Amino acid sequence: MRPATTVDEIAAERRAALVTLLAEERGLSCPRLRAAFARVPRHAFVADHAFWLPERPDDRFRWPEMPDPAEAIAAAYTDRPLVVRCADDGGIRSSCTAPSLVGHLLQELDPPTGARVLEIGTGTGYAAALLSEVTGAAVETVEIDHGLAAVAGRTLARLGFDAVTVRAGDATRLDSGYACFSRVLVSAATTVVPGGWIAALRPGGTLVATYPLPWRGLTLVVRRTGEDMATGRFLANGGRTCPSLVHGGSSGATALPGVPVHEAVEVSLDEFGPAGSIEPGTPAGLALLAGFAIPGLAALPFSPPAGGAPAVQLVDGHRENCSLIVDGSGAVRATSAGRGLAERLTAVRRLWDGAGRPDEGGYVWSWQAGRTSLATRGGRVLGERGFLGT
Ligand SMILES: C[S@@+](CC[C@H](N)C(=O)[O-])C[C@H]1O[C@@H](n2cnc3c(N)ncnc32)[C@H](O)[C@@H]1O
Repeated sequence: MRPATTVDEIAAERRAALVTLLAEERGLSCPRLRAAFARVPRHAFVADHAFWLPERPDDRFRWPEMPDPAEAIAAAYTDRPLVVRCADDGGIRSSCTAPSLVGHLLQELDPPTGARVLEIGTGTGYAAALLSEVTGAAVETVEIDHGLAAVAGRTLARLGFDAVTVRAGDATRLDSGYACFSRVLVSAATTVVPGGWIAALRPGGTLVATYPLPWRGLTLVVRRTGEDMATGRFLANGGRTCPSLVHGGSSGATALPGVPVHEAVEVSLDEFGPAGSIEPGTPAGLALLAGFAIPGLAALPFSPPAGGAPAVQLVDGHRENCSLIVDGSGAVRATSAGRGLAERLTAVRRLWDGAGRPDEGGYVWSWQAGRTSLATRGGRVLGERGFLGT
């Protein structure tokens, strides 16, 4: 057989290899989805403006040096996210999600042929193209970054995905015109489900979102069960997550500038769990409860000012300078407000123990008239979102 030489031929070969990987090693069992992944040209959505996600904290974003266009195509068909927008602080604002995570989300979304789908977070437009390929129907997708929305709209039009409509705007503020969607895909990670997204679903419809935990990511699958009601469950997704949703136009960043490290005093987190294992050793069910009870809780890499081993900083993004620093030896130091955070984490641990230490599948998420609560599958209500907040 003649070796592939044109861009289209090389891309088709790479796509076929990616689909084999997704099917055989990443659990993509749905034949309709596999066919869509085999047809949608991911390289066309990331061409010219994507970067590798750094593998180590000190790696810089880079698009590999590729003298050969074949290498660029190969990069687009690896199972990795490709960054397309960074913020000034170096955080990731947008990426073309790793194909296996998109496959997992779409498989859970399970959109039937002809289903009307809304996507939150267009990014490059790749997932919207897959959705339109799978359903053969209209897809609406909303992107907060006007520049990205324009590029994605042009790419989709050039490739003939005419059924996809890209709208630039903040999806946390959808107007009442968004209604009767059979499916909603939230492509940006979020722990908050605004009422507008439930209202956008028709009764019985399904919403799937990547749900970030302080130490990893889960998938939230929500079904609208009534006029003002929805219930959800959590699934493991291999720990992967997307850049977080931007709320109300703010950066959404949880990093706290100028943490007064010199004020930090040693505290005990022993009751929460072995501090040295906080990242990534904390069980998903405990991390889920901690993130639900303490909104804004995040684990960030922290470089001690005087040098030394990199550490982990736990912050409650809703309280200024509310910070705990866990160093390489597992010792924990707290800023003054951080002492309260240690106490709240300890309270979370006790609640989790008392509830029988559920894993992520052991919770029921409920939404009623704008209030979100968490219970165990056994019916024990643990609290409303933010019940250990400020
Ligand atoms: C993981 S990326 C999306 C990947 C995309 N589906 C793809 O296939 O390339 C998440 C996107 O959500 C967007 N986003 C974040 N907050 C948003 C908001 N409030 N409204 C709309 N889009 C938002 C980000 O700008 C980013 O492009």
